[in-house]
Amino acid sequence: MKYINKRLTVEKVNFQRIAKKFGTPFYCYSFSKLRENVNKFKNNFKSFSPLICFAVKSNTNVYLIREIKKFGLGADVVSLGELMMALKAGIKPNKIVFSGVGKTFDELKFAINKKILLINAESLSEIMVINKIAKLKNKKVRVGIRLNPNTDAKTLKQISTGKKENKFGVNKNTFQKIVDFCKNSKNIDLKCLSVHIGSQILDHKPYEKMLNSVSQILGKTNHKFEFIDLGGGMGINYSDKKESLNYKKYNAAINNFLKKHKVKIIFEPGRSIIGNTGTLISRVIYIKDSGKKKFIILDAAMNDLMRPALYGAFHRTLPVIKSNKISNKTYEFVGPICESTDKFITLKKFQKLKEKDLIAICDVGAYGMSLSSNYNLRPKPIELLIKGSKINIIRKRQKHTEII
Ligand code: LLP
Repeated sequence: MKYINKRLTVEKVNFQRIAKKFGTPFYCYSFSKLRENVNKFKNNFKSFSPLICFAVKSNTNVYLIREIKKFGLGADVVSLGELMMALKAGIKPNKIVFSGVGKTFDELKFAINKKILLINAESLSEIMVINKIAKLKNKKVRVGIRLNPNTDAKTLKQISTGKKENKFGVNKNTFQKIVDFCKNSKNIDLKCLSVHIGSQILDHKPYEKMLNSVSQILGKTNHKFEFIDLGGGMGINYSDKKESLNYKKYNAAINNFLKKHKVKIIFEPGRSIIGNTGTLISRVIYIKDSGKKKFIILDAAMNDLMRPALYGAFHRTLPVIKSNKISNKTYEFVGPICESTDKFITLKKFQKLKEKDLIAICDVGAYGMSLSSNYNLRPKPIELLIKGSKINIIRKRQKHTEII
């Protein structure tokens, strides 16, 4: 994304043109950025060619998943809906892993029928249900066990998953119990140990710690695992500072690990693949002066992009048409929803805005549209995929008639 003739442009189209044609708010993704992210991700770990399973929860658009599939990626899913969507996008079952703490009987039955690569179980009770279904169907089911390594991912507490107080995975003792159970079962083929310690991780050290814990457990457990699924969580740079995960160090730690353990590595990245490919474009409806600051009331709201309200997440916010005039008042960018947390960002020294101007909220490809809702009975925005100068509609704008 860059300014060409003062207009913010993605690939070969400027957002102003798109807004004129499709209205606002809209989500817009860049295909070339997506390709670049996938290539970078593959390159970072090329010495051991992992199986990369895209975390569908980060973006569930079937067209985007289809593009991701064409790059050779599989899918990490956490519900029947996501599993069906991954299959619809054409991802082969032997490249799908299924995580989640509360998979129901029906979800597990469907996954078993589809013969997906792995069901990553997160409790002894879940293993019992898998065993029961497999027995009924006279099948042997490939299973992973998700370990809770009690590692602090050093990220937001709301998106941290690998500490013992988090509901995810099982502790070392339960892990061993499940291994013993699986070994005695004719219907379970224990293939994988999985971990995922959190999301938006920018420090490689928690990953090193996680690998140490996994290594220790593998040393103690007398079982040969074929796969180690290291989850996702690789953070991206949301800020203007240059923050990034040190992939070289993470890669080195994994290579070290692989010297001791002959296993195939699986990753489940979401944000690092799709996060910075997406932008939310919104129009200023009204500007309200409240004395100290001005409220910039946008036509996008927390139902379209929940991250700031939910986590206090920061998203770079830019004018779609650049000018040199700077406002002397603080701007608070808000949506029309009846909640005080319906607020995107507060900025000082933003360029002077007027009603009907366009605003770009950046890096919303992951957990943007997938977390959206119809709160206040607002229809969901249209999604567009830009390929060079081509604009593809990849999800229509929801109509009021569909939700009323
Ligand atoms: N694997 C598992 C088991 C997960 O739970 C997650 C994310 C991922 C993979 C993908 O993580 P990623 O590479 O995208 O960090 N809504 C939050 C993020 C929640 C992440 C949930 N699990 C946000 O907007 O930041």
